[in-house]
Amino acid sequence: MVQTISFKVNGQARTVTTDPERPLLDVLREELQLTGAKYGCGDGQCRACTVLLDGKSVAACITSVGDAASKTILTIEGLSKGDTLHPAQQAFLDEGAFQCGYCTAGMIMGVVGLMSEKANPSEGELLTRLQKHICRCCSYPRILKAARRSLAAAKK
Ligand code: FES
Ligand code: FES
Repeated sequence: MVQTISFKVNGQARTVTTDPERPLLDVLREELQLTGAKYGCGDGQCRACTVLLDGKSVAACITSVGDAASKTILTIEGLSKGDTLHPAQQAFLDEGAFQCGYCTAGMIMGVVGLMSEKANPSEGELLTRLQKHICRCCSYPRILKAARRSLAAAKK
């Protein structure tokens, strides 16, 4: 049954009227035109669709919009402050940590999620986090360098 669901996205209050079982990714992309989070597998296996929900990274393709009700969502579109990129965005840019770029927003949000969830994540925790993310272009060495650079920037 259709419901009216409210949440905050990238600092803005938003309301949608839809089936609460609908994937959050679908609502972000189709209703709110936030297309940074990508549809990859649709099954929680690639993390191209990663967003933060109350500060924790989630796969938006397997998170229902009903589960996001009254919560705070951060997508890649909400990361920069004006013209200033988030340190993780800057690190991925500086390292050229992408080829086609399809996985990049999810990778960045995964790293940002780890930084949000843990004050000082270890190398092992970083590797565990990145193992959830698939890059079909196999840009992993540069992605890992960018992720390490993101964590280092956060310590400054
Ligand atoms: S599209 Fe969500 S995990 Fe693959
Ligand atoms: S850069 Fe193409 S999927 Fe990762």
